[in-house]
Amino acid sequence: MKENSKKITRRGFIGTTGTIAAGLTILPSSVISGLGKRAPSDKLNIAVVGIGGMGNTNLKNVKETENIVALCDVDWGYAAKVFAANPNAKAYWDWRKMYDEMGKSIDAVIVATADHSHCVAASNAIALGKHTYVQKPLTHSVYESRLLTKLAAKYKVATQMGNQGASGEGVNLTIEWLQNGEIGEVKKVEAFTDRPIWPQGQNVPKGEWVPDTLNWDLFIGPTRMRPYNSIYTPWNWRGWWDFGTGALGDMACHIMHPIFKGLKLKYPVRAQGSSTLLLTDCAPNAQMVTLTYPERVVPKGSKIKYPEVQVIWYDGGLQPPKPIGWPAGKDMNNNGGGVIFHGSKDTLICGCYGRDPWLLSGRVPVAPKTERRVEGNKHELDWVRACKESPESRVPSKSDFSEAGPFNEMVVMGVLAVRLQGLNKELEWNGEKMEFTNIGDNDAVRLTISDNFTIIDGDPKFDRPNKQLNAKQFASEMVKHTYRKGFTLPDMPA
Ligand SMILES: NC(=O)c1ccc[n+]([C@@H]2O[C@H](COP(=O)([O-])OP(=O)(O)OC[C@H]3O[C@@H](n4cnc5c(N)ncnc54)[C@H](O)[C@@H]3O)[C@@H](O)[C@H]2O)c1
Repeated sequence: MKENSKKITRRGFIGTTGTIAAGLTILPSSVISGLGKRAPSDKLNIAVVGIGGMGNTNLKNVKETENIVALCDVDWGYAAKVFAANPNAKAYWDWRKMYDEMGKSIDAVIVATADHSHCVAASNAIALGKHTYVQKPLTHSVYESRLLTKLAAKYKVATQMGNQGASGEGVNLTIEWLQNGEIGEVKKVEAFTDRPIWPQGQNVPKGEWVPDTLNWDLFIGPTRMRPYNSIYTPWNWRGWWDFGTGALGDMACHIMHPIFKGLKLKYPVRAQGSSTLLLTDCAPNAQMVTLTYPERVVPKGSKIKYPEVQVIWYDGGLQPPKPIGWPAGKDMNNNGGGVIFHGSKDTLICGCYGRDPWLLSGRVPVAPKTERRVEGNKHELDWVRACKESPESRVPSKSDFSEAGPFNEMVVMGVLAVRLQGLNKELEWNGEKMEFTNIGDNDAVRLTISDNFTIIDGDPKFDRPNKQLNAKQFASEMVKHTYRKGFTLPDMPA
């Protein structure tokens, strides 16, 4: 590893743009206002981890009203303009150091790093009592989702996952129409995304020199070390299993949220996946996943039953077949994907983020408005509001971890189903115990390490080295990752 954090100072990036905040004393707003008694006008002191991409959008959406006191990024080249635009925030390479030094003066943390480091940064913030906003997908594994759900409840902090569609009108209407029985009972749902739009199905590239502006060791964080290559970060980490969750993990939190909430899902009981060529390291170009949920308890006064339902996911450009009666020429893809709820009375279709719901019959439902509305769909500010309310009377934000945690388990279950497709069976899942119940001790999966095709003297040559893994160990490592030394999670609350 290059010890580049010593070579580059923030002053070098921001030049003379403003004060270096190291010398400032910043009091948390709880100190200013007295614990649990925050006026909405009382500003939160917010730290952001991962600022080069979506973190900057989140930051901009809160900085009008709140104080940004600290920023952390492992790539001071990519993040330079964000550091420069926020000269009063103290800059860090390592969120662990930031929590150590500024923990007492920070009220809330936004995490917008690559998926694999969401949980480790967020869980340690929650354990310090910090309100936490985490980009979607909430976590990289099932265990991490469960941990964040339980920690948020234990520490009574305000939380939000960054699936901003949750604060939009489309998700509200879709849920209200479903739960008002507008399409009857739903036993099948299909959902899709047009992603990936980044490289997937790639062989592991050769190592390159690490740029001076990047701390590769900190980017790797809790996962296993590998040689740097510019294909991994920024942005393209999505396609690499160690860092991202493929097209499904990237988009399903936006697309499947109205399914999870509208149909009152919790843990699936069965899962199966298939894909184009599955490689050990890089997600495939296209995938299909089927998750089965058992019948749910019908709430008192409910207008419909919630029978066993199959949720079928497609990505990589694949789409579900158009249902009978589909308006000819209408594009199914709305903002990056879509959902088709097949009901016993009608069919409901919505886009990505629950956008623009409509019924195939053409009827326009009028259902009671049971869902809370967020003014101006301002997802980050809905979380800010929740941060300022006392835990006893707090109205949970629209994607509070009590819901986002179990929902994210649905999303990462899709990754498990695809990566375990080599078992050639429908996987049975015990959600409470977080384990597959039909993988035997000696079951094995064979995975392709790389896919090489050349033509030599006119003859096609295929070279697909592969390796065999114990399926039970492989599955349990994907459900709960072993972290690299130096990165630890708080204990799972009871
Ligand atoms: N809600 C949305 O619409 C939306 C849109 C885009 C991305 N996202 C999510 O936001 C997250 C970031 O995605 P992105 O597109 O901005 O990626 P990105 O690669 O463009 O930005 C991630 C930033 O985090 C930094 N980073 C990585 N590891 C870090 C660590 N351990 N500590 C501090 N900084 C670290 C990177 O250097 C980079 O600046 C992902 O979880 C992604 O799924 C959400």
